[in-house]
Amino acid sequence: MRVTAKANSNIALIKYWGKRDASLNLPAVGSISVTLDGLSTQTSVWFKTGLGKDRLLLNGTEESGLALDRVSRFLNIIRMRAGTSLKAFVESSNNFPTAAGLASSASAFAALAVASSKAAGLTLTEAELSELSRRGSGSAARSIFGGFVEMHRGEKPDGSDSIAEPLADKAFWDLRLLIAVTSEKAKTTDSTSGMTQSKASSPYYPVWVDTAEADLAEMRSVLLAKDFQKVGEISEYSCLKMHALAQSGRPGVVYWNGATVKVMHAVRELRQSGIPVYFTIDAGPQVKVLCLPENEQVVNEMLQLIPGVLRIIKTRPGDGIQIIEAAE
Ligand code: PMV
Repeated sequence: MRVTAKANSNIALIKYWGKRDASLNLPAVGSISVTLDGLSTQTSVWFKTGLGKDRLLLNGTEESGLALDRVSRFLNIIRMRAGTSLKAFVESSNNFPTAAGLASSASAFAALAVASSKAAGLTLTEAELSELSRRGSGSAARSIFGGFVEMHRGEKPDGSDSIAEPLADKAFWDLRLLIAVTSEKAKTTDSTSGMTQSKASSPYYPVWVDTAEADLAEMRSVLLAKDFQKVGEISEYSCLKMHALAQSGRPGVVYWNGATVKVMHAVRELRQSGIPVYFTIDAGPQVKVLCLPENEQVVNEMLQLIPGVLRIIKTRPGDGIQIIEAAE
């Protein structure tokens, strides 16, 4: 069966950084995210006889090396569960820059988990799909669901409770996110390497893990109360705390460029003038700017004036995974 699935990316308001188990990709901390409308990966998978190895077509280009290895390792999990040794043909495309801190791995592994499990004949629940997606990328576990999502750290060694769960659907709150793209280049330190470095060498790492539950509880409560100011403040706090952690390793990882910092200051200046607007940044140089619908235009105009902002992507809470096609 050839199955095509689509998943949206997501942005964490409370950040995940650090693994409690690298082999099962278990997070050291939980996280809370918003699934993003229109920033998606569409992936088709079919297991075929006669293929000597897995093949991956990514945005129209045949991949080998690291990208293919990562997909093949993921497909091995599917093959083991489905009891097949067939290799697969995977065709995947993103409608936004790959590996530049726009969480392309989140939408990519969520779409791959859904398409490959169904193509292999497995019938999985959303919780099982979330657990499976996590094996590919921690943030992918959240992209299974739409709207506002919480990822649980979990306690079990097998990772069966390290899964995401919806907090509220996209209709719950019409927030706006404007993504200020400041570089289209792939980042030099991927999130796994960055996390490994933080855990191994940052003196802040134990504190980060110890304070995570309190941040999650606070965000959960202000989010469900639709307290925009608090949601924004805690999002900025979690973002800066995560980056301080990444920067405090040996060597520290700096994901920002000059324009990233300019946008951070501009957001705070606009806020000083009375517009509720906040930023958050993942493991890359793009700044995701959070505002309410009535302020979207003024925020967009402000971002357009900042030197180094290449383009602005407008998004809002979006849907979870979708099966586009399943055909024999
Ligand atoms: O899913 P990963 O392994 O690419 O890690 C994502 C890490 C951050 O994007 C920085 C934070 C998050 O929670 O999405």
